[in-house]
Amino acid sequence: MSNSVFPLITPVPPRTTIVIFGASGDLTQRKLIPALYTLDVEGRLPERYAIIGVARSEFDGEQFRAHLRTGVQAHARLANHDAAAWDRFAAHLHYCQGSYDDPATYAALARQMVALDDACETCGNHLFYLATPPHLYPVIVAQLGAAGLNRRGAGQGDGFVRVIIEKPFGHDLASAQALNAEIHEVFDESQVYRIDHYLGKETVQNIMVFRFGNAIFEPVWNRNYVDHVQITVAEEVAVGPRTGYYDTAGVLRDVFQNHLLQLMTLIAMEPPAAFNAKFLRDEKVKVLQAVRPMRAEEVATATVRGQYRTYRDEPGVRPGSTTATYAAVRLLIDNWRWQGVPFYLRSGKLLARKATEITVQFKDVPHKLFPAGEAGSPHANFITFCIQPEEGLHLRFETKIPGAGMRLRSVEMDFQFGEEFGQTALPEAYERLLLDALNGDASLFARADEIELSWRIIDPIQAGWDAADQPRREAEGWRTETAPPLEFYEKDTWGPPGADRLLAQSSRHWRLTCHK
Ligand code: NDP
Ligand code: BG6
Repeated sequence: MSNSVFPLITPVPPRTTIVIFGASGDLTQRKLIPALYTLDVEGRLPERYAIIGVARSEFDGEQFRAHLRTGVQAHARLANHDAAAWDRFAAHLHYCQGSYDDPATYAALARQMVALDDACETCGNHLFYLATPPHLYPVIVAQLGAAGLNRRGAGQGDGFVRVIIEKPFGHDLASAQALNAEIHEVFDESQVYRIDHYLGKETVQNIMVFRFGNAIFEPVWNRNYVDHVQITVAEEVAVGPRTGYYDTAGVLRDVFQNHLLQLMTLIAMEPPAAFNAKFLRDEKVKVLQAVRPMRAEEVATATVRGQYRTYRDEPGVRPGSTTATYAAVRLLIDNWRWQGVPFYLRSGKLLARKATEITVQFKDVPHKLFPAGEAGSPHANFITFCIQPEEGLHLRFETKIPGAGMRLRSVEMDFQFGEEFGQTALPEAYERLLLDALNGDASLFARADEIELSWRIIDPIQAGWDAADQPRREAEGWRTETAPPLEFYEKDTWGPPGADRLLAQSSRHWRLTCHK
């Protein structure tokens, strides 16, 4: 029986074995297992399912379950459940120890899966989740293929075989294309679910409902009325224990290529003809195709890069590293709806507080009838999508100050999910995405072409930055002055001053409106 305030409408999937590679890792412990536990407690997983963790670490079954239990206690949305709830869930957890490149691991896994299928008294479905460091994705995919685990064999029934692949998906366009090719050697595209957990956030999905479930906003959602759009993904945390990965990735690869561009496509896309994976992703792809590729000479004026002051002191960071922990970028979308409307994207670590917001700033009224009021009113209207930690919507408009005369003041209208639907935490992104993958709905997962197009947008910016730090690339046409300087910023600020200048060039400024 579900006790969720926000019921997910997806039906319970049929019997399934979920195999998680990298099962000893952080993501499995902090996100995947807590999400599966919550789904189990809410009755959203079938009575007959199994979860097999695969990793090299030495665990027996009991140790593996104990390790996962601490993650559930610390991170599950519904953590306040009794031991019986855990025991019921834990009975579904199994462990398979082995190296990711050893065929014996997959032979043992296959035996375990067959035994579990047999115990189900019918052939079940198989969902593989790749939660390892990314260099292992092609290794695991190839081994799954070699072991015949990528498809149902003759006489094994018609259950599905799907694979979820974590981010980062590639390091640039060439590596993403190569990874797609390697995956497609083994799995059809219809079997592949590339995860971007931002798409699983309720407040992100609400962008589509706001735009296409209401009639009053879409008519003004275009270049005739919108002045610009700004997307902020600010993090209070530093890079943390992942410096090894982060120092070779940086903020563009870590969050722009995926989360920020996904948010942008949802704001900018045309309404799909139907709400299904193909039509939705087709529309997102069209936005990415229309983003104007940044020319080398624009990188210095249309992008900003920063590094928090103490980054180089962190263990695992290369001496003198120029990896950016902050970026601000201006993108343009060359299509009829958005021609000439700048999209400003910014994100950074160790900023003043966590804040993910998207503001659609409308144009000034074309003719000012009323005298200036308080604080320079009338101001242009804007709508802000509060993605996290505040979850809701915010609208600013002008109103008459009561009393004599026609003086104006800006006022704000707020909608908060918590106030409207109760204070229970919204479902975790991974809950929704795991359930969607089990149900074969790929709408909220990135398609191969989507991933490659987003790298096509990021690569020229990263190349310009890299060129500034490796002057030998001048031979390739990059000049040092075509990249912005690396600006250092202090903890608890909103990033380097260059980010403010990026908007000030056109008399605009960043907004943060959700936190009260
Ligand atoms: P971990 O570094 O914790 O790695 C997961 C597991 O992979 C480890 O427990 C380890 O298991 C195995 N492993 C690690 N390094 C190696 C290696 N060099 N060679 C072979 N095996 C190795 O990663 P996370 O759990 O943090 O992340 C997993 C994936 O999810 C990554 O691709 C990451 O980018 C992505 N991700 C993670 C997020 C997070 O919050 N953690 C957020 C978003 C994406 P063992 O040694 O037991 O085999
Ligand atoms: C991950 C990035 O994809 O997203 C992390 O690798 C980042 O660096 C995280 O901290 C942010 O996710 P969220 O859901 O906390 O905004």
